[in-house]
Amino acid sequence: MLKLVLQRSPHLLAGAVLLVLAGCGGSETDSGTASAGGNNAAASQVLAATPPMGWNSWNTFFCKVTEQDIRQAADALVSSGLRDAGYQYVNIDDCWHAPERDAEGKLQANAERFPSGIAALADYVHSRGLKLGIYASPLEKMCSGTSTGSLGHEVQDADTFAAWGVDYLKYDYCSTEGTLADQIATFTKMRDALRSTGRPIVYSINSNSGSHEITGQAYDWGTIANLWRTTQDVNATWDNDLGTGIHSPFFGIINAIDATEPLAAQAGPGHWNDADMLVVGTQAIPAIATFFGGLSPATTQPLSQLALYPTLEEMRSQFSMWSMMAAPLIAGNDLTQMPPDVLAILGNRDVIAVNQDPLGIAGTAIVNGSDAAVWARPLRGGAVAVALLNRSKLPMAISTTAGEVGLPAAPTYQVKDLWSGQLTTTTGAITATVPGHGVAMLRLMATP
Ligand code: GLA
Repeated sequence: MLKLVLQRSPHLLAGAVLLVLAGCGGSETDSGTASAGGNNAAASQVLAATPPMGWNSWNTFFCKVTEQDIRQAADALVSSGLRDAGYQYVNIDDCWHAPERDAEGKLQANAERFPSGIAALADYVHSRGLKLGIYASPLEKMCSGTSTGSLGHEVQDADTFAAWGVDYLKYDYCSTEGTLADQIATFTKMRDALRSTGRPIVYSINSNSGSHEITGQAYDWGTIANLWRTTQDVNATWDNDLGTGIHSPFFGIINAIDATEPLAAQAGPGHWNDADMLVVGTQAIPAIATFFGGLSPATTQPLSQLALYPTLEEMRSQFSMWSMMAAPLIAGNDLTQMPPDVLAILGNRDVIAVNQDPLGIAGTAIVNGSDAAVWARPLRGGAVAVALLNRSKLPMAISTTAGEVGLPAAPTYQVKDLWSGQLTTTTGAITATVPGHGVAMLRLMATP
């Protein structure tokens, strides 16, 4: 939840008012079974064998979320075709809960906004061929501020979630206090509690890496969680103009890419870097006043008329680069009001296939200039996904070669442009004119 706080930072004017997304870091993770960090299980038994795909309520509904919103999101995933394209999890973020636990200390759903309860909602979501995710926090408070964190209730809460039929837990460390050892202990406790339930529950943690000075991004959480946040909350903008430092209150798309790229080696089947949710089709929060004035109003206006949205090019870039990074694809837009150009991005099956490639090798930047970057991601079967990323505002020609992106010598290569669908052949040279803040995303393979 967005909270106005006074914070003193050596990097900012003392006492400056900072906008901070309240709530702990959130990440969408797979929890609990032999999967997290384990390479010993057969791929088919690994929970989150590929990056989780789904939808989360936060970026559109924030703390106003209702069970009706969740049901409608599930329905829209089905009717839009996104479920069949791979989106599986319907995740309720913060604020689903009552402000107090019940007499037995059990978490309970907010009676006004979730009158039917979570078990009934899980049944509904399951009946649509989807899975349900929920949100909790390892400390005393949820990120929204109520004293319903799971500290001391780990086993009880895991059992409750399993009994309700929950399939995914986002476990959000809502504090910049504590040591790395504290975080490891508390995240491990819930991992073990989830495992003990016997229900496969994807375990998504947020150690608050973007704002926690001690943990930073230094720790590889792959032995504990199925996914872990590598960023501050990503806002629907390109660049926060503050970089990826721990005192940047929000990240833009490019900041999340910069923070996650160096961590590529941590990603693999069952354990993924979570660069935060997609902002495709969501509205930016450029000023706190806008946030408090209204939350991401539903609209069917063409995106080009909405100055507060990122451009379509920037949305395509986020979707492309999250797929290059093997980051979870968790949409956050209002699925019931989805303009066709947004659906075309979220539903691009060629790009999704890169994201979901079974090898699970995250791509890296093999050239990372201040304006132009060239990324490569090895895919199953000897193909390579390539992204030519233009960080600047102006169109730019970006080039690479088959050899540079790691393909073996061959007389010719097949090239598929994953956004236009166009198929071409090259003897090795690749060039594209890429719009400002845009990406050309290609799949290359030696011609058989
Ligand atoms: C943090 C997380 C967000 C969201 C909010 C909820 O800010 O990073 O993704 O879950 O908490 O309060």
